[in-house]
Amino acid sequence: MDESLHTTLLGIEMKTPVLTASGTFGFGEEFADFVDLSRLGGVMVKGTTLKPRRGNDGVRITETPQGMLNCIGLENPGVATFLNETLPRIAAYGMNVIVNISGSTVEEYGELARLLDVPGVAAIELNVSCPNVKEGGIVFGTDPEAASAVVRSAKANTGKPVILKLSPNVTDGVAMARAVEKAGADAISLINTLLGMQIDIERCQPVLGNVTGGLSGPCVKPVAVRMVWQVAQAVRIPIIGMGGIASAEDAVEFFLAGASAVAVGTANFTDPAITMEICDGLAAYLENHGLKSIDELIGKANPGFLKGGR
Ligand SMILES: Cc1cc2nc3c(=O)[nH]c(=O)nc-3n(C[C@H](O)[C@H](O)[C@H](O)COP(=O)(O)O)c2cc1C
Repeated sequence: MDESLHTTLLGIEMKTPVLTASGTFGFGEEFADFVDLSRLGGVMVKGTTLKPRRGNDGVRITETPQGMLNCIGLENPGVATFLNETLPRIAAYGMNVIVNISGSTVEEYGELARLLDVPGVAAIELNVSCPNVKEGGIVFGTDPEAASAVVRSAKANTGKPVILKLSPNVTDGVAMARAVEKAGADAISLINTLLGMQIDIERCQPVLGNVTGGLSGPCVKPVAVRMVWQVAQAVRIPIIGMGGIASAEDAVEFFLAGASAVAVGTANFTDPAITMEICDGLAAYLENHGLKSIDELIGKANPGFLKGGR
């Protein structure tokens, strides 16, 4: 049934174009009881940093209408533990592992990319847009020059495909996308979370320990589809679309907007097996519409979609 879903992206063979978004699916292994991990196009693993991080104090997650706010603050065991312990363990699942990295300097991104240039890592995703950490992060994601410098630093240190993850917290996502393509990014993923805030009206205080957090889930989907649609007109490198995908129909919207693959994030929290349902639904959609492959959908709703190079 998955034959129509098979795709090759950045030279990576994917059984389906359905991936999981960083920070919402652990290292994949936590979901092994619910999901055939090898059926996913890839698992974008938890944001990884050079040193281990404890993350933020206080309340880190709160529900919002049709979504959630989080301020995890990139809690992770650090790249050495990932390489020595996690990677050998998750290799057994036969999934494409895409490592999401975060640095506080341009050089740190290069160093992480170099350390992760090892067998078992399919690609590297640069998180230049985490709104929940004080240093680095957001600065790189809102300035085309800084984001380009991060891409160049990663590319100079790895032979792996490098995916730049775009922030929606910018006025001109297209300018960012064009800049990072020019700097050598192999693909763009979008969107990261939208900066948001919630106030407890009884305690008269912000709900989140970090005061602000990243908004995700179905409520952000129209923003994500709009940004994918705009960026698809501006660049030739492939796009991995994400933001609020919770069904096969949602995913189809992203393909029509110009994404070559999609990633599922917050929906994994409400249904840990949702990605399998989305794969089944996509295959059924193609069959019902007489389409042989997902490629026939990509960019179809986008009159400005640039053909070639994808
Ligand atoms: C709890 C949580 C943790 C996240 N951690 C990361 C992260 O470490 N790195 C990153 O690039 N994005 C992170 N994200 C953003 C997601 O990967 C995704 O871009 C975003 O949530 C939009 O997709 P969704 O609406 O399907 O969740 C996180 C999101 C959530 C909800």
